[in-house]
Amino acid sequence: MTNDPVRVYYDADADRGRLAGRRFAIIGYGSQGHAHALNLRDGGASVIVGLRQGGGSWQRAEAAGLDVRPVAAAAAAADVIMMLTPDQDGRAVYESGVAQGLAPGKTLMFAHGFNIHYGEIAPPAGVDVSMVAPKSPGHLVRSEYEAGRGVPGLVAVHQDASGQALANALAYASGIGCTRAGVIETIESGAPLYGPARYIRPTAWNGWLPGPAARPPSPARTAPCSSRPVTCHGSPMRSAPYSPTPRSPSGCAGPPRTAAAPCRTRTTLWPPP
Ligand SMILES: NC(=O)c1ccc[n+]([C@@H]2O[C@H](COP(=O)([O-])OP(=O)(O)OC[C@H]3O[C@@H](n4cnc5c(N)ncnc54)[C@H](OP(=O)(O)O)[C@@H]3O)[C@@H](O)[C@H]2O)c1
Repeated sequence: MTNDPVRVYYDADADRGRLAGRRFAIIGYGSQGHAHALNLRDGGASVIVGLRQGGGSWQRAEAAGLDVRPVAAAAAAADVIMMLTPDQDGRAVYESGVAQGLAPGKTLMFAHGFNIHYGEIAPPAGVDVSMVAPKSPGHLVRSEYEAGRGVPGLVAVHQDASGQALANALAYASGIGCTRAGVIETIESGAPLYGPARYIRPTAWNGWLPGPAARPPSPARTAPCSSRPVTCHGSPMRSAPYSPTPRSPSGCAGPPRTAAAPCRTRTTLWPPP
């Protein structure tokens, strides 16, 4: 570990113009998928939702007025493909539908580092690979956006074929509202797509993120962080319907965070700008 300062990006750091002219395939329409798709769509971006036919969420996405297609068709038609299916299914979804839709110049995105960090998915060269991971369940990603605010998130770049991967990822983060609250760049070497827990601890869930959209924490925001054991190294916090948190093949490598060792210690990692 290093003592590098934490880098936080806000709206002013993101060029939303990068969303224009690009088509986004949101693969999955569950907790995160519905929020990303609707937030991007409401912001004017071109969005396709990629799902399996006959699945439960197909009708929900269509009812929301979205363009819904099978995963392979959505991936093939998009410039940016965001993987928002359960992590344990990510490899199967990628291999059966997404991989053939990738081509140099496209971007593959994740909201969790699991599949890249553990080598479940190995994207081809020529493709940008990045992560925008809201530190929030999807219903809050959506409701905060609708309220004119946003939830904080993590951003990381695994593969920068274009030289623009970070800027494009920040534009995406802006499109779903995360730069309203602040987006932390994950910089831990060896785990570029995995949010390092030491950087995640002092985030806005304890009300510490400064910025125009910051507001006092509500019990709903603090409870998952301070009263519930969080046992896996930086895995996104969840308090609503969600897919099971995947574990590393050897189990959790990170130290458990418990109520006895709560994550509410304001540290020098977080000087307000
Ligand atoms: N939930 C959170 O709080 C949270 C927070 C931050 C990051 N993340 C990350 O966001 C990503 C998505 O998590 P999530 O909780 O949003 O997932 P989720 O709600 O469990 O995703 C369900 C969606 O995935 C679709 N799906 C499942 N298997 C599929 C398959 N084989 N082919 C096509 N579609 C399939 C489902 O479609 P059907 O209706 O057909 O089943 C449904 O639309 C994960 O990487 C997760 O780690 C989650």
